[in-house]
Amino acid sequence: MIIGIAKEIKNNEYRVCLVPADVQTLTADGHQVLVEQGAGVGSGFSDDAYKAAGATIVGKEVYTDSDIFCKVKEIEPEEYPLFRPGQIVFSYLHSNAHPEMTQFLLDNEITAICYEDIDDKEGKFPLLIPMSIFAGKGGFIAALQYSQTIYGGSGKILSNIPGIETPHITIIGAGYSGMAAAEMASAFGNQVSLLDLDVKILQKAKQSLPPNVEFLLSNRTNLLKCLKKTDVLINCVLWPKTRKDHLVYRSDLSLMKPDALIVDVSCDEAGAIETSKSTTHDDSIYSVDGIRHYAVDNIPSAFAGSSSELLSMSILPYLRKVAKLGVKEALQADPHFRRGLTTYKGKLTLKETAEKLGKPFTDPLDALNM
Ligand SMILES: NC(=O)c1ccc[n+]([C@@H]2O[C@H](COP(=O)([O-])OP(=O)(O)OC[C@H]3O[C@@H](n4cnc5c(N)ncnc54)[C@H](O)[C@@H]3O)[C@@H](O)[C@H]2O)c1
Repeated sequence: MIIGIAKEIKNNEYRVCLVPADVQTLTADGHQVLVEQGAGVGSGFSDDAYKAAGATIVGKEVYTDSDIFCKVKEIEPEEYPLFRPGQIVFSYLHSNAHPEMTQFLLDNEITAICYEDIDDKEGKFPLLIPMSIFAGKGGFIAALQYSQTIYGGSGKILSNIPGIETPHITIIGAGYSGMAAAEMASAFGNQVSLLDLDVKILQKAKQSLPPNVEFLLSNRTNLLKCLKKTDVLINCVLWPKTRKDHLVYRSDLSLMKPDALIVDVSCDEAGAIETSKSTTHDDSIYSVDGIRHYAVDNIPSAFAGSSSELLSMSILPYLRKVAKLGVKEALQADPHFRRGLTTYKGKLTLKETAEKLGKPFTDPLDALNM
């Protein structure tokens, strides 16, 4: 198999999907790896390091010359003409949020497998978890930065300093990103309220977090109490793509301190936070009714070296499977891997995206067996 690695072109996206150490595993398996020139430079991996791992450095022909084309983020419109019909692409795609890209994948009969919907036997998302951890920690680091006066913030240092009031940080969702944010926020000495729907999750969270964290069931009463006193609200709830209600409504913003900051790690457009819309590292903050929002949808790219290593080691087993068995057999054999199949031969095979975009859905196994 010929595996291609793209240089990302999304705003401030510095990650690369495969690092040289994992490329070496693929070349040792007997596969050919094509790396687009400069693909790893943003995350600290030179073309020479890829060459030493057995890869060939190429130009834009990486799109057409590879059997499996691997990326980090969605396919940008400038990339559409570079693809060949029938190509296989493996990436974070978020097809529900990118209808134009999804139509492109369907029209060109591209086999698209998204990292974010592949699950495992426990119902977890093994290719989403590593980036959620980076997003939670990075979300708190963004809160530290954007609370600073020089970045237009409240001027409050998110830390416990004797003699001054300790900031209050509310985190909604005690999953992977929420726990990562809570670890950082509490380690800096802040008063932290961590909310989740599931008391068992809160009990487990309590075992690993310090006493400056309180654990609250997520209901409207507790959330509104927190909103009134919070300096930073960090949303880490994975919001179902088809849900129309919200946890924090626009009208709730008036309850918050005027200098409060919302960090929406989940950044689902009008999702758990009604006023949320994705932002970029270049232009990360916007205000609604005076409340500043940060909703960067590729937070891990700010830590491109570390996050690329983790992403690469996470996708490697799936790539090896596809490279060994072929994409059809690999997907037919593994229902959890198959959950990531987004489009196949012009059929939309991801149910949530089909529902959200109002397009016909084809069961992935049926599509593969057609
Ligand atoms: N911005 C970025 O760069 C970036 C990167 C990676 C992931 N993410 C996003 O982060 C989000 C969270 O991912 P995760 O892996 O931490 O999810 P997760 O499934 O591990 O955690 C979600 C938690 O939210 C809880 N929850 C659900 N409904 C709730 C409610 N009403 N109130 C309180 N808690 C509730 C769940 O019980 C669960 O514990 C996802 O939307 C993911 O797409 C963003």
